[in-house]
Amino acid sequence: MTLLNKPLAHEAVEDSNTSNNIEFQTIINRRMHRRHILKGGTGLTAAAFFGALPLVGCSDDDDDSPSRLPSDDDQAAIPAQGNLKRPDTLKFTAVAHSTADTMSVAEGYQAEMILPLGTPLMSGIADWKDNREQSAESFEWRMGDNHDGMWFFGKKGNTYDAKASKNGLLVMNHEYVNSSELSPFGYHVISDNNAAPIYQNRRLASDVRREVNCHGVAVVEMTRRADGMGYEMVKDSKYNRRITSSTPAQLTGPVAGSDLVKTKFDPTGLQTRGINNNCGAGLSPWGTYLTTEENFLGVFARGQDAEQLSTSHNYGRERYGASENFSGWEYLWHTPYAKDEIIADEFARWDMTATGTDATEDYRNGFNTFGYITEIDPFDQHSAPQKRTALGRFAHENCAYAPVESGKPVVFYMGDDARGEYIYKFVSKARWSNADIGGGLKAGDKYLNEGTLYVAVFHEDGRGEWRPLVHGQNGLDASNAELPFAGQDEVLVFARAAADALGATKMDRPEWVSVSPMTGEVYVTLTNNKYRGEREDQPLSAANPRSYQVNGKPSGNDNGHIIRWAETGGDHAATSFEWDIYLFAAPNELAAENLSQLNKNNDLSSPDGLYFDPRGVLWIQTDDGAYTDTSSCMLLAALPGQVSDGTLITTSAGQQTRVGMTASDDNIKRFFVGPEGCEVTGITMTPDFKTLFINIQHPGNTWGAVAGGSTPRSATVMITREDGDVILAESFT
Ligand code: FEO
Ligand code: CA
Ligand code: CA
Repeated sequence: MTLLNKPLAHEAVEDSNTSNNIEFQTIINRRMHRRHILKGGTGLTAAAFFGALPLVGCSDDDDDSPSRLPSDDDQAAIPAQGNLKRPDTLKFTAVAHSTADTMSVAEGYQAEMILPLGTPLMSGIADWKDNREQSAESFEWRMGDNHDGMWFFGKKGNTYDAKASKNGLLVMNHEYVNSSELSPFGYHVISDNNAAPIYQNRRLASDVRREVNCHGVAVVEMTRRADGMGYEMVKDSKYNRRITSSTPAQLTGPVAGSDLVKTKFDPTGLQTRGINNNCGAGLSPWGTYLTTEENFLGVFARGQDAEQLSTSHNYGRERYGASENFSGWEYLWHTPYAKDEIIADEFARWDMTATGTDATEDYRNGFNTFGYITEIDPFDQHSAPQKRTALGRFAHENCAYAPVESGKPVVFYMGDDARGEYIYKFVSKARWSNADIGGGLKAGDKYLNEGTLYVAVFHEDGRGEWRPLVHGQNGLDASNAELPFAGQDEVLVFARAAADALGATKMDRPEWVSVSPMTGEVYVTLTNNKYRGEREDQPLSAANPRSYQVNGKPSGNDNGHIIRWAETGGDHAATSFEWDIYLFAAPNELAAENLSQLNKNNDLSSPDGLYFDPRGVLWIQTDDGAYTDTSSCMLLAALPGQVSDGTLITTSAGQQTRVGMTASDDNIKRFFVGPEGCEVTGITMTPDFKTLFINIQHPGNTWGAVAGGSTPRSATVMITREDGDVILAESFT
């Protein structure tokens, strides 16, 4: 066995934005006057705002910010029943820091592990065994690895019911695999020194097949237990299914049929095989599941083929991290011998090298068929995943919609999680109609195939703007020096390059997005960026204002922050906004960086998962490596205010910015700590607010192992109150 010096999937961060657009932006920003910096913050003190927080359904009486709340008729598919009031303060007892190999949850609550890696969804598939001898093929009917984003779809009869809690479909992502813990052989690589450079380390066909099947999405029917506490899987449900990195998927929208996605598998460019590295997830307003494709780069390889490709195609590949002689991360899915394939080009399709006379003779474009928001209808078990290309191709984290209003476009927010990448939004061409709730993929065709994709620019003065990624506008045409765009398909497939040309703001790894149901403001976690302020192409900016040393070592923005904005006039289709930084994450003892004044009850590092529940409580999850000597990754509950409720500050790096109101035990508190070694991610709540599901990825030690076993396993955790009441019931008293 050989261990390669390659990044493990959960440690690897793609890093290919060396464009110099930040300098251009900085120059422009410095020309702008700064008197707007406190605009909006003068009429309302934080305390006044917090004491008079509107309830969901009530209007906002601030004259400057018209109500952004949907009427009851416009609640669409947002599960909404029970007590929608947001608590005024958080009254549970904070969970202490922990590095134990067990999980801890707030007093009065219970947390139970369910659906670990390998759980069979059907009878006739043997239970997972610690010797890992389950066949690769059997994982087409088992829970996959590294559970991530998810959603609970209430179900009544055979259809989606946003208000149903008794029975539902729990749909979740399996982001990647821990290769060494999945195969009976561990991480096994065979040297083949006579092969081409990208084939000199070969993996076993069965290991690759197992890994392909452990990626993707699981749909699991759940039913409330007889005692009313929590849920159990409905084994053999007709809805139970796995979608893997091998399942045929449809390409839809402007890129479907483009020359850029034609392959030997489908010379018409309408289909591809598989969804991959599905990270964050969410609901569509009509009740389907929106999964994402994030680090798909890691499963592809590219040999030497620059001479066969156009300038645009070469530039586009490099911009997404695929240089010549790139053999991918540790997966090496292209490397098993062809003689071991059981379906055509099973392994060859992960090699994007241009070898044929044109694109229909090889898989040069396979890479271009990944990196999309992908829609799945969990209620139609025979439907194919739909890759929604109009929303752009990048390392998608999640996709969150703004509250919908009849007759207005539907708006989705998205982050591209890599160092120095961007934040985007998509505004549909079609106008919202409540009649589309329950409309499945047809509704998706209506809202997700036509519209405008925008990228965010965060100006230094607290204002921001959205710039459209539209071919023929603002230099997005053949005149663009780096990548001469031939059409809208190229703008979308190489969205990062288009965003570069528009001067988008390089962010500290945009992870999850969530929209407050109370204020309509949009929140994005910026998890960390070790290069911020350290590398010339990632200079400080007001929106990414920290760069500091930890233990004498330059660490950039080591702990991350959460940015938020209010669209102008409360209109999510607006092209301008006002922003501030809701929260800076930091260890409480790191005084110079603890700009939100966190204490031991609420300090955190590397925020990642983010979810406003329908009551307006913000749940924050962490995926951290910086503060884990003190505490493992965690879940916090928070009650944010609104943009401009804080002050103007200067960071230790000398960058001025606006931070939100300071933290206190009343407005942010640690609710759960995961087992040592894990990431806490993925979150959904049942419509009755009584059960909270979260996911534990890559736990350490033996968490999740079968009794007496030693292989740790990713799993879902189901959190309920011991008395069966709603989550956070204590905070309403
Ligand atoms: Fe899959 Fe950006 O986390
Ligand atoms: Ca994440
Ligand atoms: Ca992360």
